[in-house]
Amino acid sequence: MGIIMLSTKDFLSIADLSSHELSDLISFSVRIKRKPRRYRRALAGKNLLTLFAKPSLRTRLSFEVGMQQLGGHAIYYSIEESTLGHKETISDFANTASRYVDAIMARLYSHKELLSLAKHSSVPVINGLTDFSHPCQALADAVTMLERKKKLAGLKLAYFGDGKNNTCHSLLEACAKLGIHMTIAAPKHHEFQPDHTVLDTAKTEALRNHCMINVTTDAHSAAANADVLYTDAWMSYHVSTREHARRRKALKHYQVNEELLSLAAKDAIFMHCLPAKRGEEVTSEVIDGPQSAVFDQAENRLHAQKALLIRLLKEG
Ligand code: CP
Ligand code: NVA
Repeated sequence: MGIIMLSTKDFLSIADLSSHELSDLISFSVRIKRKPRRYRRALAGKNLLTLFAKPSLRTRLSFEVGMQQLGGHAIYYSIEESTLGHKETISDFANTASRYVDAIMARLYSHKELLSLAKHSSVPVINGLTDFSHPCQALADAVTMLERKKKLAGLKLAYFGDGKNNTCHSLLEACAKLGIHMTIAAPKHHEFQPDHTVLDTAKTEALRNHCMINVTTDAHSAAANADVLYTDAWMSYHVSTREHARRRKALKHYQVNEELLSLAAKDAIFMHCLPAKRGEEVTSEVIDGPQSAVFDQAENRLHAQKALLIRLLKEG
């Protein structure tokens, strides 16, 4: 099969890719993981600017190491020491950065600002997480599910807790494109429900790909016979400490613990994008137990993003 170039300049959302492009990126990630040395000069001479408005372990390390392993270079830039937002407009920042680097990876609070950065950059922009979505995570998670479960279409994924969540939104988009059934178990208050547009679009796409997207308040029914149990932090980077006690109370019935895991398929895996808080969204027994795939997920960020960078940056 020939190389499938991406039809978009940027990687801002899983929804911007066709199912075919997404599947190709996943299989390319697996090939890179198997034979990393084959790609060690793939991005020789290329520079990636990595811009961070929030903390990071995985995103920062995987992009920096990934660029280095492809023969290129990554420049770390914290938003605090940048001119963006206080001294310079997004447009001036984007126009200037595009004259120096070959691509920009940005982790920002506002998704609107990310879209504006992409609009004004002549080089590809990669979403390294906004409050709204986390497409690099969903791409790596699809690689992990394929490795662990040997297939994607027809799998049953259950997501627990905070449904109005960047990782959850990108997973919704990915599952719908890949034929994975996804059930979100979350409190009924709108604060914890997935974004309407993301949900409706995913439901429509899911119909085309023969899978179902559901939302329920019942964690037990969501877990029943699931192949994958997924959760994310109840206190995302953008959640203020004032909200912690109230959110902990609202989300307590959605913790992934041994009782919930016992309802899933016997060979089910547990997934979490990390960072995790043991005793909140997941217990130590589950995240540190034999069914946990969390460090494979973290590793696969590296391979999946290398595939993405090559597809975005390599001409021809
Ligand atoms: N999963 C993830 O994006 O982790 P970091 O916040 O450490 O980058
Ligand atoms: N939902 C989490 C994901 C972290 C990778 C957050 O935004 O903090």
